[in-house]
Amino acid sequence: MSNAERHYHIVTYGCQMNVHDSERIAGMLSELGYTQIDDIGLADIVVFNTCCIRENAENHAYGNIGMLKKLKAARRDMIIAVGGCMPQQIGKADVLHKKFPYVDIIFGTHNLGKLKDYIELKQGRKKAVIEIQEREGAVTEDDRPLRTSYPNAWINIMYGCNNFCSYCIVPYVRGRERSRRSENVIAEARSLVGEGYKELTLLGQNVNSFASGGGDVTFPELLRAIAAIDGKFRLRFMTSHPKDFSEELARAIAGEPKICNCIHLPVQSGSDRILKAMNRKYTSADYLRKIDILRKYVPDCAVTTDLIVGFPGETDEDFRDTLALVKKVGFSSAFTFVYSKREGTAAAKMPGQIPEEVSKARIMELVELVNSLTREHSAKYVGRTCEILCEGYDEKRGLYLGRDEYGRMGYFKGDDSLIGSFVNIRVNEANGVSLMGETVK
Ligand code: SAH
Ligand code: SF4
Ligand code: F3S
Repeated sequence: MSNAERHYHIVTYGCQMNVHDSERIAGMLSELGYTQIDDIGLADIVVFNTCCIRENAENHAYGNIGMLKKLKAARRDMIIAVGGCMPQQIGKADVLHKKFPYVDIIFGTHNLGKLKDYIELKQGRKKAVIEIQEREGAVTEDDRPLRTSYPNAWINIMYGCNNFCSYCIVPYVRGRERSRRSENVIAEARSLVGEGYKELTLLGQNVNSFASGGGDVTFPELLRAIAAIDGKFRLRFMTSHPKDFSEELARAIAGEPKICNCIHLPVQSGSDRILKAMNRKYTSADYLRKIDILRKYVPDCAVTTDLIVGFPGETDEDFRDTLALVKKVGFSSAFTFVYSKREGTAAAKMPGQIPEEVSKARIMELVELVNSLTREHSAKYVGRTCEILCEGYDEKRGLYLGRDEYGRMGYFKGDDSLIGSFVNIRVNEANGVSLMGETVK
């Protein structure tokens, strides 16, 4: 390794959108001449791209930034930057600066694109560069992300969220909905397919409101236009808010083989009282109706979801309603969360915060149910052949891996030449969310 070579290391927390933001950060750092390095101890610049969706996401970041104190003392020329959703919260940048005075740069979500300038500003300057932009800027169309997840590529189609679910911090740290121009999204998709990417995932906090966020076409129209690009590839999207899920979207999924028959549709709760308090703008019956519409057009569609337990005021009966809804829909998998109070949100001021032991008991019961549904879905695969897009090699298992159209992870023996290609595997065994199989012609 030559001395002149400079390296970056990025630590990412939170959602897929943040993962993609880290790819944008990587793009900027590579333009500055840095190359990626796995060993954080050898990096010349370390960027923490943080999340604040739940308290434990923040605690992770605090712990990891704290661990760099010694390293920074030994290597004063190392630059440490902390950005993303956490510092974007009001007053949080100061908290971070006080707690970690050795951090060189603090920036938020709205000025992520200026990280390059901040790095230059920091060179030869002792004082930390702390820059938070309160208001969101216009959407950026000229990002040059350094994608790190071939054969999958993430494409941001819209930023921000207008929904203000009462528990959620995202609208406060990501600003209002802003959609990109469809022609730019389509051009990006076309160029990625041309580069050999096999799976494109369109990202937004609520992709269904592409048009109301200022987009020039509806979301299903955008999906259709991208699906019309020549070549074999898969198209996914996330996340959809149930209130905006439309029959037109169900028809687009049904009509375009490239759009995967799988949707992430976070329901959060099965209790109408709690859904109302969450400001979700649908009832459990509305949700079930949407699922019926979806399955009318796409009978085999896999539905995954997000669930929160322990929202303020949640009674045992409310929780039973959630369990009942989960069974009724038969989710193929679900992310389950214990409600985490976020300062500044409406729910933080609500009475009836739930004791930790109650939430813990509820989440354990919920996880058990979700796991049993997951196992049921996986068991149906045994003996079947399914098409997997090979994503890479799993060191731990010593097997290659990839997902099928419905999002199930399959593991099999192979070689590096398979990465990025569609492989048929016959499933011999189902193991929770994982399918174990062997390649067949
Ligand atoms: N925009 C997406 C997801 C946003 S965050 C959507 O609306 O679906 C991902 C998930 O985190 C949410 O669906 C929700 O289940 C969970 N979540 C958000 N805020 C939370 C909080 N304060 N406590 C616990 N879980 C939360
Ligand atoms: Fe948060 Fe609700 Fe917006 Fe999703 S839709 S990001 S849960 S406010
Ligand atoms: Fe977290 Fe920000 Fe995503 S709070 S979940 S990284 S939008």
